[in-house]
Amino acid sequence: VTEQPLRIGIAGLGVVGGGVVTTLQQNAGLIASRIEREIQIVAVSARNKSRHRHLPLGDATWCDRAVDLANHPDVDVVVELIGGSEGVARELCETALKNGKHVVTANKALIAHHGVELAQLAESQRRVLAFEAAVAGGIPIVKAFREALGANRFHRVAGILNGTCNYILSAMQHRHQDFETVLAEAQRLGYAEADPSFDVDGIDTAHKLAILTSLAYGSAVDIEGVHIEGIRSIALQDIIFADQLGYVIKLLGIARETEQGIEQRVHPCMVPSHSALAAVEDAFNAVEVEGDATGKMIFEGRGAGAGPTASAVIADIMDIARGSWYRPFNLPADKLQKRNRAAMDDLEVACYLRLSVIDRPGVLAEITSIFRDEQISLHSCLQRARMPGSVVQVVLTTHETRESALQRAVKRIGALDAMTDSPRLIRIENL
Ligand SMILES: NC(=O)c1ccc[n+]([C@@H]2O[C@H](COP(=O)([O-])OP(=O)(O)OC[C@H]3O[C@@H](n4cnc5c(N)ncnc54)[C@H](OP(=O)(O)O)[C@@H]3O)[C@@H](O)[C@H]2O)c1
Repeated sequence: VTEQPLRIGIAGLGVVGGGVVTTLQQNAGLIASRIEREIQIVAVSARNKSRHRHLPLGDATWCDRAVDLANHPDVDVVVELIGGSEGVARELCETALKNGKHVVTANKALIAHHGVELAQLAESQRRVLAFEAAVAGGIPIVKAFREALGANRFHRVAGILNGTCNYILSAMQHRHQDFETVLAEAQRLGYAEADPSFDVDGIDTAHKLAILTSLAYGSAVDIEGVHIEGIRSIALQDIIFADQLGYVIKLLGIARETEQGIEQRVHPCMVPSHSALAAVEDAFNAVEVEGDATGKMIFEGRGAGAGPTASAVIADIMDIARGSWYRPFNLPADKLQKRNRAAMDDLEVACYLRLSVIDRPGVLAEITSIFRDEQISLHSCLQRARMPGSVVQVVLTTHETRESALQRAVKRIGALDAMTDSPRLIRIENL
């Protein structure tokens, strides 16, 4: 090892920051031999200086304000592991790049909202802005898009991008427990945050999807253009019916390029039980990429946690240590185009509908006449028990239909007298 050490400053010493510090120490020799350089933590910052962290921080300088890392003369790379799309994290990354430092971050919210501006700044300074850890944790998907898959045109990108949601849906499926029960347990075990809305309402998945879309299609990151639905409305009954129909329910982020523009959607999907994504269980993440040259590929692994996320952060730091420079989103940042958004209404999709209806003659006829009016063709219909006068579940699946027609039908069915609850719609994604 002959070159000067690469000097880093780490802001945020929580789950990810702690993982980075620990892994850097545990694998120091190996890492240094691979990059022929040492990585030195010269400064750190977190909110609470007096917290006992049990981290091997050596003689790293403590900075009370994270932004001081961006002004620190000995820091070559600022590693931002605080989080949040605004405030301290944003200020730190902007200032660091302006001051000619490289930036490595795990912050998907920041990149989803400000990735293009930050990339412009990085490019103007010819510094690296790296965010492998921001999407799917330990899975090297950003690098795959940026480097290994560069020759492909992509038909579709579909991912299970949030471990908390996948954990909840898997537990509902295997233990036959409802959403609230599983969520409460996930919170107890630390798999879900006290405020789980970023995860279960699909926002975190949307952040990651928006980043992948930009990498795959060369479009400007467009978080506002993502259609987002979370998993709170998924009932245990839906999971059970899905199983009977040969499907598994997953929260997917899907991106495609259509004639209308870029389609980005996050919502629960029924995927065939034999598909690769159906087999991705618990807190694991997976991304299915379909390239014109490669065909379908699956990247699967741990999408969160100290070790997997640290692995991605350190890989980015190692690239910088080797002297690599690249454009964060592949294309020059000012060539990333603002593209049209494909309207959700124009989506062609099959769906599952569960209707809670009072079992009385003529109800099914009313429902099917609505489908006829909307020219929706039914694929299957399931009504388990006959219980005249009481509430039964009717489950229907449709062939591929225009989303707008489905939504009109759902609205009309929901208004029928015999309905005792609003219809539940889950789109079927035949992967
Ligand atoms: N957790 C994961 O598995 C995972 C996976 C992929 C990406 N990420 C991303 O990684 C980032 C960090 O996540 P995390 O899970 O490690 O969060 P965390 O455990 O909550 O840690 C956040 C750290 O930031 C520090 N911090 C908070 N406000 C600060 C401020 N104003 N100035 C300086 N430091 C401040 C905290 O200080 P104190 O320790 O003193 O409170 C803490 O050390 C986020 O962007 C997250 O989305 C996380």
